[in-house]
Amino acid sequence: MMRRAHTQPSIGPEAVKLTVRPARITDLPALVELLCQLFSIETDFAVRPDRHARGLRLLLGAVRRGRAYVAVAERQREVVGMATVQTVVSTAEGARSGLIEDVVVRKDLRGAGIGTSLMAAIAHWARANGLARLQLLADRRNRLALTFYDRLAFQTTNMICLRARCPEKDQQECANEGRPKRR
Ligand SMILES: CC(C)(COP(=O)(O)OP(=O)(O)OC[C@H]1O[C@@H](n2cnc3c(N)ncnc32)[C@H](O)[C@@H]1OP(=O)(O)O)[C@@H](O)C(=O)NCCC(=O)NCCS
Repeated sequence: MMRRAHTQPSIGPEAVKLTVRPARITDLPALVELLCQLFSIETDFAVRPDRHARGLRLLLGAVRRGRAYVAVAERQREVVGMATVQTVVSTAEGARSGLIEDVVVRKDLRGAGIGTSLMAAIAHWARANGLARLQLLADRRNRLALTFYDRLAFQTTNMICLRARCPEKDQQECANEGRPKRR
């Protein structure tokens, strides 16, 4: 089968000794760097390292409460990719479902199977936690990402994304509410 031409990774898949594991707080700088790469592609979002760090801390709080999973791909002790999933209650499914976000692999290592390994870890966590469904948003112009998800059996639906911003003050209040209360 003919394979499309992509920017080749600097090393072949067989040479990549990869571990996919849950994120640790010490991964934060590397994860922020990956998110900056991601949000520079997705024009719906701005590159704001301070906000990405704050978001990751919130997500790690949700991880502690069993409501999220942050998967990190590590190669030679370096974080080279990430993917996150957080749960929502689906009244349509009558069960919890998972919202996948932040799927990104370091630029020079794309096309070597790392993204697929990260998504397998997410799917494993979803199964283990009884989620009925996984869903995600993708930029309609990101052809490579859409092909990637298609290969993983994600289907396009008729739903579209609508959003409205909340005032900054409310965001901070929401962030504080997300913190576990001290007893
Ligand atoms: C999309 C992404 C996470 C996939 O991870 P990956 O490690 O490159 O993907 P894998 O090697 O596991 O799978 C390769 C498949 O993904 C697709 N793909 C997407 N981007 C690719 C890239 N830059 N290089 C090669 N393949 C890519 C292809 O369909 C490819 O299949 P093929 O090799 O049969 O043609 C990664 O390319 C990436 O970080 N892209 C930029 C960020 C992004 O778009 N994230 C998705 C946001 S919704």
